[in-house]
Amino acid sequence: MSSLRNLILHGDCLDAMKHLQSNLEEKLQLIYIDPPYFSGTDYSLKKKRGSKKNQAPHLIEEHTYSDKWKGGLSEYLEFMKERLIAMKSLLREEGSIWVHLDFHVSHYVKTIMDDIFGYQNFVNEIIWKRTNSPKAQSKGFGSQHDVILLYAVDRPKFRTKAVYRNHDENSLKPYSYHDDRGRFRLIEIEAQGIQRSESRKQFEWRGRTAPYLYRKETLDEWWENNIIYTSKNRRYSKKQYLEDIPGVQVSDLWLDIPPIQGASKEYSGFLTQKPIALLRRVIESATAPGDIVGDFFAGSGTTAIAAHQIERNWIICDTTKVAIDLASSRLADIDADDSFDTIVL
Ligand SMILES: C[S@@+](CC[C@H](N)C(=O)[O-])C[C@H]1O[C@@H](n2cnc3c(N)ncnc32)[C@H](O)[C@@H]1O
Repeated sequence: MSSLRNLILHGDCLDAMKHLQSNLEEKLQLIYIDPPYFSGTDYSLKKKRGSKKNQAPHLIEEHTYSDKWKGGLSEYLEFMKERLIAMKSLLREEGSIWVHLDFHVSHYVKTIMDDIFGYQNFVNEIIWKRTNSPKAQSKGFGSQHDVILLYAVDRPKFRTKAVYRNHDENSLKPYSYHDDRGRFRLIEIEAQGIQRSESRKQFEWRGRTAPYLYRKETLDEWWENNIIYTSKNRRYSKKQYLEDIPGVQVSDLWLDIPPIQGASKEYSGFLTQKPIALLRRVIESATAPGDIVGDFFAGSGTTAIAAHQIERNWIICDTTKVAIDLASSRLADIDADDSFDTIVL
């Protein structure tokens, strides 16, 4: 971990960003936010208390934040716009911003982000399956997913690392071939479908003329290395061995990170708490150790915990005292409590 002190700021994030402006302008590599969603709901923290012998603990509910907007959608969008503009000024040129929302307003916030960050810098709309049991609806369909909008500050300068997830039954199915090196699947080396345009030259290689996707020299090298598979009708493919790839490359559809449930080890009682694994995926893919990660709607502090675990520096902010106290105690639980300062704005 670098010597930079991590920060918890208690107050409105607009004030927090003004406070950071002179020292941290264009210094953050990544900002992740999970702001209010215009859901019309009051949120709370549920804590268990009173576990005396032979007594079932009772639940205490503490108000955390309200996602109700007197001025309606326009007030909410103005609130987001002001804060997103301030966030942009803290990001490095190579940096990125990840905005976690759901169906209520993700489409409106996206157009605001197009204005602030530029449509050309939009990278992904990630879909995270956030529940296995959506509420039954009398009309339409139960919502099961959240949306994470990913924008680069300057797309050509932005880099991500490939992220892999573990194989599952379906992804293992194609690996149905075996040889003495192990289990493998077949990769096409001839143009298929739309790739098979008339302009693609065919050539003869080892007795078969086809619109190959690779040069003769590459095919020869693969042949020498015994990674070409020959079918019964003498059609060639490339072997991809299961042991050579770290898993399945993750797309923009994130189905493999389970939500926090009452029985989850990391459950803190904070109703909108996100899983550490989700934040680790975000941070790991777009930052390196020592980079600074910001979260200006920190809630229970998940971003700081994930960042700390993988040796990134972090700055988090929240308006709610209950959230600040919870984030601080979760950080103390992972022995990170002597690495940060807290500032009350
Ligand atoms: C959806 S929760 C974040 C949950 C968080 N990702 C987690 O894993 O626990 C949104 C948080 O934004 C905070 N918040 C709302 N308005 C804010 C503001 N103007 N400045 C800073 N934080 C704010 C709320 O207090 C709440 O804790």
